[in-house]
Amino acid sequence: MVTSASPATDSVAPAAGEAAAPFEQGRDRLSPNRNLAPLTAQLDGLGRLEVGGMALGDLAQTYGTPLYVLDEETLRATCRAYRQALAAHYPGEALALYASKANSSLAITALVASEGLGLDAVSAGELLTALQGGMPAERIVFHGNNKSAEELQLAIDRGVTVVLDNWNDIDLLSALAAGRSQPLRLLVRFTPGIECHTHEYIRTGHLDSKFGFDPDQLESVLRHLAGCPWARVDGLHAHIGSQIFELEPHRDLAAVMAEALVVARSLGHPCGDLNVGGGLGIRYVGSDDPPSIQEWVRVVAGAVAEACSQRQLELPRLLCEPGRSLVATAGLTLYTVGSRKDIPGLRTYVSVDGGMSDNPRPITYQSLYTAVLADRPLAEGSDVVTVAGKHCESGDVLLHDVRLPVTAPGDVLAVFATGAYNAAMGSNYNRIPRPAAVLVHNGVADVVQRREQPEDLLRYDVLPHRLLPVS
Ligand code: LLP
Repeated sequence: MVTSASPATDSVAPAAGEAAAPFEQGRDRLSPNRNLAPLTAQLDGLGRLEVGGMALGDLAQTYGTPLYVLDEETLRATCRAYRQALAAHYPGEALALYASKANSSLAITALVASEGLGLDAVSAGELLTALQGGMPAERIVFHGNNKSAEELQLAIDRGVTVVLDNWNDIDLLSALAAGRSQPLRLLVRFTPGIECHTHEYIRTGHLDSKFGFDPDQLESVLRHLAGCPWARVDGLHAHIGSQIFELEPHRDLAAVMAEALVVARSLGHPCGDLNVGGGLGIRYVGSDDPPSIQEWVRVVAGAVAEACSQRQLELPRLLCEPGRSLVATAGLTLYTVGSRKDIPGLRTYVSVDGGMSDNPRPITYQSLYTAVLADRPLAEGSDVVTVAGKHCESGDVLLHDVRLPVTAPGDVLAVFATGAYNAAMGSNYNRIPRPAAVLVHNGVADVVQRREQPEDLLRYDVLPHRLLPVS
């Protein structure tokens, strides 16, 4: 669905000395999504890269690799950037909901909840993680284009707002709501007719999307719901895409949503919330230049306020759902370098101990990343290599033709901006266990996800008795 904006050639990082180290390039302390590395990335006394006051090489030594590292300071700074920008730029109430599909865990939930944000969940698993991680139910919205009756039951039992996506949701909920004294709190999602690509966007009447009601159907859906005593339509939702660097589509979205709000309110729905989804992009490679969080919020909030005032609409509470821009830059992944294969005149492969099972984005979206050696981040990048994973798949490549210092087996490689859609989309392909994750802060590291062991992968295997070897 989403690819990094940059052409493949941009993945060849400048050699050290030609430009600042990647973790320092134009560091933006207020908007972490504009950096390659976490805010706390710096050299320690030995010239090694440290994050959260912990040398990455030491983390690799202590916890093993592949290892997801999450910097608490960056995550908190990002949450605050969204909160403060919403307070500064939107004249009404506003709340950022963390799109937990980007990286769902108890620790991230607890951090995000403690910063006053809400959360968007799309499955029973994400919902349970959110609730158990301490996110108040009234700050959670539950999405999904094919929610099961069990998932909906869980959401309504816990007082979570459900985002209606289709008629099946309505049918299931009307049955589940029977006998309840209070109406269910709902948002209605529709396809806004704005499709974003990374550098362009098109508008169409009927978007080919599995998510949300077709815009032409929205009015009849809202009419139907107006006659359902069990339903309380608290707002509207739309989401236009992900890893977006443009601001114009978000501006257009505000107008489309305000128009829909006019219809919803004219039908008697309270519709106090307007949820504009997520989508703000981040920097994966030096040439990526996403807008800042402050700029994104300023445009979105300004457009919503203006579109509402033009239509004399009472200002809704503004909700947004950042995922990637909230967690990606706080995270990085450590790998240990292993084998090397030189194909003269063609390419050099350097393999690491992870790959597509912990980061499926390159093979899925041809996404680009930036990497340095953890213990020699400033060493001259005299080698052009392709960093491959260890999976049985030729396309299992994390970085194509990147410039790195000459590596030796045992070197630790740090890949930046892996905090979003890496662990969350990981797999056990080739029966490779999932990495551990540590949260670092002020020189302390806490394991927030234990490393899976090969034996764990057998937990759900069942060997029928009749297949047991006869001895
Ligand atoms: N809200 C809704 C309804 C969404 O579908 C999404 C993302 C978000 C919010 C958060 O969007 P963000 O702020 O993260 O752009 N796996 C892909 C990204 C898929 C995004 C799906 N929906 C990737 O790795 O690039």
